[in-house]
Amino acid sequence: MATQDFRGKVVLITGASSGIGRAVARVYAAQGAHLVLAARREPALRDAAREAEALGVRALPVCCDITREEDVARLVRETEAAFGGLDILVNNAGLGLYGPVEGFSEAQLRQVFEVNFFGLVRVTRAALPLLRRRAPGSRVINVSSVLGHRGLPLLGGYGASKAAVNLLTESLRAELATEGIRVLLVSPGLTETEFRDARLNAEGWAQDSIPLDAMSAEAVARALVRASRRGNRETVLTLPGRVMVLANRLVPGLFDRVARRIANPARRP
Ligand SMILES: NC(=O)c1ccc[n+]([C@@H]2O[C@H](COP(=O)([O-])OP(=O)(O)OC[C@H]3O[C@@H](n4cnc5c(N)ncnc54)[C@H](OP(=O)(O)O)[C@@H]3O)[C@@H](O)[C@H]2O)c1
Repeated sequence: MATQDFRGKVVLITGASSGIGRAVARVYAAQGAHLVLAARREPALRDAAREAEALGVRALPVCCDITREEDVARLVRETEAAFGGLDILVNNAGLGLYGPVEGFSEAQLRQVFEVNFFGLVRVTRAALPLLRRRAPGSRVINVSSVLGHRGLPLLGGYGASKAAVNLLTESLRAELATEGIRVLLVSPGLTETEFRDARLNAEGWAQDSIPLDAMSAEAVARALVRASRRGNRETVLTLPGRVMVLANRLVPGLFDRVARRIANPARRP
């Protein structure tokens, strides 16, 4: 498949106010793409838009909570009014959850699924008419996690929401293939962002620092944009992340034992 030139393309990024999403915005803008930047924190979105515009592209910040149907409908209306269509949708907005299956509340689990899974489905469905206008060649890029490929202790609720994204991505890829809309999955490993500060914790649970090197949001963003240029169907990031996904496929029983040992130190206060 031909690689993609981003000059003049329109890219909508959810979760563009911080971390990976904001870094992805910078990389696309540096390559000449126009941006629609969605998240709830308006001042941070405006900053991100200014940063992109300084690189000579157009950037539309849209304050949007992806758990709200009416916000998502407005996001798509504003995208259409500004650009008329959409070349790339990056479903990046996400929320973490830490604690044992027995410890997190059902409300916390629902909140995490509401953002990571239902929000992604809601945005994708609403954006499809605009992606169809730029097909063939338009793309949906779903940001998952290595934890969506393999369950680890204390990360089961979050991992389950990402595993749901993984399977949905496969179905959508097949459904849209004949229309020339490519659906990609990018699964980062540990990345240095605000993610752990924003994350929900089961009552009485908190995570100590993790004894693994984190990737920078910029490195994840470069890898995501490279994958989107090449149309790579699946990208797993960080070396430990790749090893984990591969080991789990090849020797799941052995990895069960390893998983118990590499479980991050957890504490109840
Ligand atoms: N950091 C990691 O180690 C890591 C590893 C693997 C995968 N990931 C995935 O990477 C993605 C980006 O995370 P990050 O690390 O960059 O964390 P982050 O800095 O916390 O970014 C999360 C983004 O999601 C947005 N968001 C959260 N809830 C939202 C909602 N209801 N509506 C709209 N936007 C919402 C946040 O913006 P507002 O608060 O302004 O709404 C923020 O821009 C997530 O899908 C995460 O699961 C992260």
